[in-house]
Amino acid sequence: MFAEQGISAGAAWIARAKAHNFFSWSAQDAINPIAMVRGEGCYFWDADGKRYFDLNSQSMCMNIGHGERRVIDAIKAQAEELAYAGPGMVTRVRVELGEALATVTPPGLEHFFYGTGGADANENAVKMARAVTGRHKILARYRSYHGATYGAMSLTGDQRRWASEPGMAGVVRYYDPYKYRSLLYREGDSDGEFTARCLAQIEETLMFEGPHTVAAILMETVTGTNGVIVPPDGYLQGVRALCDRYGILLICDEVMTGFGRTGAWFGVDHWGVVPDMITMAKGLTSAYLPLSTVAVNARVFDHFRTHVFYGGLTYSAHPICLAAALATLRVIQEDDLVGNAAAMGRVLADLLDELKAEHPAIGDVRSIGLLGCIELVKNRESKEPLAPYTGGGEVMPKLAAYLREHGVYTYVWRNLLHTNPPLCVTEEQLRAVMAIVNDALMIADSAIA
Ligand SMILES: Cc1ncc(COP(=O)(O)O)c(C=O)c1O
Repeated sequence: MFAEQGISAGAAWIARAKAHNFFSWSAQDAINPIAMVRGEGCYFWDADGKRYFDLNSQSMCMNIGHGERRVIDAIKAQAEELAYAGPGMVTRVRVELGEALATVTPPGLEHFFYGTGGADANENAVKMARAVTGRHKILARYRSYHGATYGAMSLTGDQRRWASEPGMAGVVRYYDPYKYRSLLYREGDSDGEFTARCLAQIEETLMFEGPHTVAAILMETVTGTNGVIVPPDGYLQGVRALCDRYGILLICDEVMTGFGRTGAWFGVDHWGVVPDMITMAKGLTSAYLPLSTVAVNARVFDHFRTHVFYGGLTYSAHPICLAAALATLRVIQEDDLVGNAAAMGRVLADLLDELKAEHPAIGDVRSIGLLGCIELVKNRESKEPLAPYTGGGEVMPKLAAYLREHGVYTYVWRNLLHTNPPLCVTEEQLRAVMAIVNDALMIADSAIA
C-alpha cells in the first residue's frame, strides 16, 4: 500500500510504528525515528539501505559494537540450554559470570546483585546503603543522570527530574567538579586547588546535613549525558576520604563509564579509588540484552549475610542476559577493547582539540577514552551556551539534522554534541566520522558569526 503511494520502506515502518507505539522522552507528535534494520561494528543501516556511523553506540551502550556473532551465538546457546530460571536459582552461567566479573572489578567488589537496567541498579544501591548505615540521606550531584524510574529520577540532578517531582525523599545535592563552568573554579586554579574547593563544598554540605544522617555519596564517576565532566586528579580520592571519615558509603554509577568506555575497565580505575558499590548496566551486555548489576564490597555484603535484602525482580539474574554479559566480557578481553578505547581515546582527544582550534562556536571539548563531548557556545568569552539548559533552540537541531543526513548518528542535546563510538572503532573510521562532525560544526560557527 505504501509502495503504491511512493512511500519508502522506512517511512512505511515508521508510520505503522507510530500508530501503536508510545516512545520514551518525547512528545509523540515530535518524534522522528530511524527505522533501523541491522548493524555491524560501528555502523547500522536503516530500512531504506542508508548506512549510519553510530557515534553514540546507540545510548552509549553498545561498547563492543553492532552484530557481534560471539554474543549472538552465546545468547542462542543459552536459550537452548536454559531459557529462564527464577532469581533464587543457581545456574551455570550465574556461577561463571560472577567469577568472571570479579576478575575485572576493582579489588574487594566481589559480590553482584543483578537487575534489569541502570535505574534499578542505582535504586538497589541506595536501598543497600540505607540498610547498611541505618541513615537515609543520599548526596547526589546536579549535573547527573541516574535513570528514569521514580527513585532514580530523584537521584538525577538534571532537568529530566523536574517532571517526576516530588520524588523520593532524602536526596541532597552537591556541586559538580565542572571546571569549565563551576563557580568553585577560579581562573588559573591548579587541579589541586579546584579539587580542594570542591571537597570543601561537599564537607560543608555534610556539616549542614549532619554526616550521621548521610548513607551515601553517589556520583557518575565521569559524568555522561550532562557533558563528560572528568573529575580533576585527587577529587575521587578526596571524596573517598570524606566518606571514610564520616562512615558514609561511596556509590559510583558506572552504568555508562564501565566496561572499557573510558579506556579502563571502570572509570574509578583511572584514579585507583575503590568505591563501596559500583552500579553497572549498558556495557555489561553491550545492550544485547537488558541487565544491570550492583557490585558490592565486604562492608555491604557482610551486612546482608544476616539481614534480609528487601529487593528483587522476576528477571534478576535472567540466564540469557547473564550469558550475553559473559560473552561480552570475553569479547572485550579477546579483542582488547579496553586497550583500543585507550588508544583511540588519544586520537579522539587530539581530533577534539583540533576542532576546538578550528571552530569559534566550540567553548570546550572534553573526553576520556571513547567518552567525549563538544560544548558549544555563542561566545567564548562569556561562555553563553549555544542552546538553553532545557534544550531546544534553533542551531543544535540543525546540527543534528546535518549529521543524520550525512550518515552520522549521535546524541545532540542542550549545547552538547557527544562523540562515543563503539570501542572497536579504528583510527580510519574515527577520523572519517570526525571529519563529518567538523563540517557540521560550520553550522554552529555561522550561527554565532
Ligand atoms: C550514568 C547513568 N546511570 C543510569 C542510567 C540509567 O540506565 P537505564 O536507562 O538502563 O535505566 C543511565 C542511562 O543513560 C546513565 O547514563
